[in-house]
Amino acid sequence: MAATVPVALAALLAAGGPAAAGPAHAPAGHTAPGHAAARTTGSVGAGDPYFPLAGNGGYHVEHYDLTLGYDPDSGHLDGTAVLTARATQRLARFDLDLKGLDVTRLTVDGAPAVFRRDGQELVVTPRTTLPKGHRFRVTVAYDGTPEAVTDPDGSDDGWIPTDDGAFVAGEPQGAMTWFPANNHPTDKSSYDFTITVPQGHTAVANGLYLGSRTAAGRTTFRWRQPEPMAAYLATATVGEFQVERYTTRDGLEVYNAVDPREAADAASVLKKLPSVLEWESKLFGPYPFRAAGAVVDHARSVGYALETQGRPLYDSAPSLSTLVHESAHQWFGDSVSVTRWKDIWLNEGFATYAEWLYTEQHGGRSAQDRFDALYESPAGDELWEFPPGDPGSGGNIFASPVYNRGAMALHELRRAVGDPAFFRILRDWAAGHRHGNGTTAQFTALAEKVSGKDLDRLFHTWLFTKGRPDTP
Ligand code: TRP
Ligand code: ZN
Repeated sequence: MAATVPVALAALLAAGGPAAAGPAHAPAGHTAPGHAAARTTGSVGAGDPYFPLAGNGGYHVEHYDLTLGYDPDSGHLDGTAVLTARATQRLARFDLDLKGLDVTRLTVDGAPAVFRRDGQELVVTPRTTLPKGHRFRVTVAYDGTPEAVTDPDGSDDGWIPTDDGAFVAGEPQGAMTWFPANNHPTDKSSYDFTITVPQGHTAVANGLYLGSRTAAGRTTFRWRQPEPMAAYLATATVGEFQVERYTTRDGLEVYNAVDPREAADAASVLKKLPSVLEWESKLFGPYPFRAAGAVVDHARSVGYALETQGRPLYDSAPSLSTLVHESAHQWFGDSVSVTRWKDIWLNEGFATYAEWLYTEQHGGRSAQDRFDALYESPAGDELWEFPPGDPGSGGNIFASPVYNRGAMALHELRRAVGDPAFFRILRDWAAGHRHGNGTTAQFTALAEKVSGKDLDRLFHTWLFTKGRPDTP
């Protein structure tokens, strides 16, 4: 290691000397070549192999304050984002994620900062290096015509224009199409939204509805998401919606926005939202947020629903199963979020299994029946293409093995440990990682701890082995 020291020192001096770069205080031998500069530069990504540029290193965003204006006719968006963040290292430079749009002004702690665009990275050099632990404020003014991102699986996400507004769904990458973000689920933050749209349109974001005001033909809607939220779960969906508001007997504030073209089909399912959330609360523990609801848009070409935090987003009137699925995500996905996209079965396998449980406990098919039917899928079926615990790439995270085989893995766990331990595991998982993140390894360790059983083989077979397992 000693041989590396001169190299590191050279880099350090090139970076402006010990005073500017800092690592002169690092213990001898710990400074690898090239690291001297890295010590004051936030990384370009959060370290997720499926989406290497998603998120950034070097800071944590505590709060986003987003002020947006959208004109559905022209598709023009203007925004001011104020991020309150904390440096987790000395920062001479850091990145935000922002794709498309023009940045017109950028300040750090009120002082104009140098910035440049490099693909989806917005590279910011503050006027002075931020000390580790420093809380700072980044203000970004921007505008333009947002464009959705096309994901590796061919689906669009982000700001998706509709015939009366926009369907705004950010999983996994699309948050950066409408606001500058630390765009990875490991960085969770509270949010305020102020969104102005033409009168007659409604802008629906996450969390609590704070009110609206109309002036000069435009209406401004204010929303607050007080609990931590991953950027991909943020929305600012715009449309000509029918709105319904009420408070449940558990004190949840419900706000539903429904496209009138979907209202007749959506009504009976939406009426069940409070009872679905109550049923899930009994199974999974207390509902993790103060606000609830749904946005039912008329945008079938999107092709999916999303568990936007507190208020899932549907591209058309949902089935009861889909409502149960997106509601279950509030515990599994939204409150407990993945640490790496590879762990996506912790979201989709759980939400799918919630559908099975709901049917089973409401006079329908048993979960065993669902499992058996899927197990009959021939060896060449898509279901067995890859194991749910290791999808292999970002293009596979929403494929059948993640959803269905993920649910099958949970069913096998339930059979192995019995109902009391199984439901205890689900509740402990939701409680232990509430408003945070979890990994597959943490989940399997919890399952073994709660059940007192060695579950290595079961998880190895159902989560990590390719192909159809020999024995169910
Ligand atoms: N997570 C969504 C669900 O509830 C599905 C989803 C989000 C999706 N983004 C997607 C599916 C992109 C396909 C492509 O299941
Ligand atoms: Zn899902």
